Amino acid sequence: MKILVLGGTAWLGRTVAREALRRGHDVTCLARGSAPAPDGATFVRADRDEDDGLAPVSGADWDAVVDVSRQPGQVRRAVRDLRTAHYVFVSTGNVYAAFDALEQDEDSPQRAPLDGDVMEDMETYGEAKVACETAVLGSGATATVIRSGLIGGPGDWSGRTGYWPWRFAHPVADEVVVPDDPDFPTAMVDVRDLAAWVVTLVEDRTGGVFNATGATTRLGDVLALAAEVGGSGATPRPVPLDRLTELGIDNWMGPASLPLWISDPEWRGFATLDTTRAREAGLVLRPLRETLTDALAFEESRPEGDERRAGLTDVDERRVLDATG
Ligand SMILES: NC(=O)c1ccc[n+]([C@@H]2O[C@H](COP(=O)([O-])OP(=O)(O)OC[C@H]3O[C@@H](n4cnc5c(N)ncnc54)[C@H](OP(=O)(O)O)[C@@H]3O)[C@@H](O)[C@H]2O)c1
Repeated sequence: MKILVLGGTAWLGRTVAREALRRGHDVTCLARGSAPAPDGATFVRADRDEDDGLAPVSGADWDAVVDVSRQPGQVRRAVRDLRTAHYVFVSTGNVYAAFDALEQDEDSPQRAPLDGDVMEDMETYGEAKVACETAVLGSGATATVIRSGLIGGPGDWSGRTGYWPWRFAHPVADEVVVPDDPDFPTAMVDVRDLAAWVVTLVEDRTGGVFNATGATTRLGDVLALAAEVGGSGATPRPVPLDRLTELGIDNWMGPASLPLWISDPEWRGFATLDTTRAREAGLVLRPLRETLTDALAFEESRPEGDERRAGLTDVDERRVLDATG
């Protein structure tokens, strides 16, 4: 099949492109060129922020377009300019209006779509993706919307999915600081499983809207597995939320944060989306142990100075251990 990946040079898009190439498809990746496309793909350098940015690929007939954009204007122009039988859009679980309810399905209330073409910052990520979805679903092509939860595994530049096995592999003491919230629901979908499923949806020309997350797993179970994968013998030191807050420790992502965990009760259901539809449509998940093991290998391979964007530094880890011992 002739597949155009809009993006295809970063993480998920690149993994999709590689998987499609592996299965023998003819793959074109379009991006501005900050990273190379996978070997075997045709690379088209173009800027989707320009009104005629898609001109180099708009004369062709595509069997499928796969788009990972966050910008409604980029998606609207793609819908306007590209000739494709199938449009697959990678969206996010953040499109839902609230997460205080558990196991929401695809028909749950959504945020209002972003007004305008440009998402200025991540504060309106969910709204921007709603606007992108609306454009794709109205495109007239077979439309597939994949509302992904946290993506994990090798290549996770954010460090959210590699931090825990890495920290247990490199403890600063015989204990590791963890949030005292073992029942918090987490989920991560392995980038390779998500990418493989995207290619299967393309091959089968499956349309529809799908939640796509990993299996919901208690934080305590993820940490126990991360400790095994890390292999140092360090054990968790659970620290209550109010103590973490006093010590300036954040949740989810960013400097001095504990990833996979969200302290705000309004987000407690974020990782519990109902994925029945996706599983019925062929999403197959590998064991979490494999994702954590390969995320650790990726962390170990990061060059000096390539800073992770989640987790505690050794200095912060030691500070919290000292303050809570
Ligand atoms: N990470 C998670 O846990 C998570 C969770 C839920 C959903 N998602 C979704 O999963 C997807 C992740 O995809 P990814 O890892 O491949 O993506 P990404 O990091 O968003 O990459 C964006 C791609 O688009 C290209 N691009 C950006 N601006 C462009 C422009 N103006 N013109 C042309 N190309 C442009 C980039 O290359 P250049 O910069 O070189 O142009 C790159 O190839 C996103 O849709 C994200 O919203 C992620």
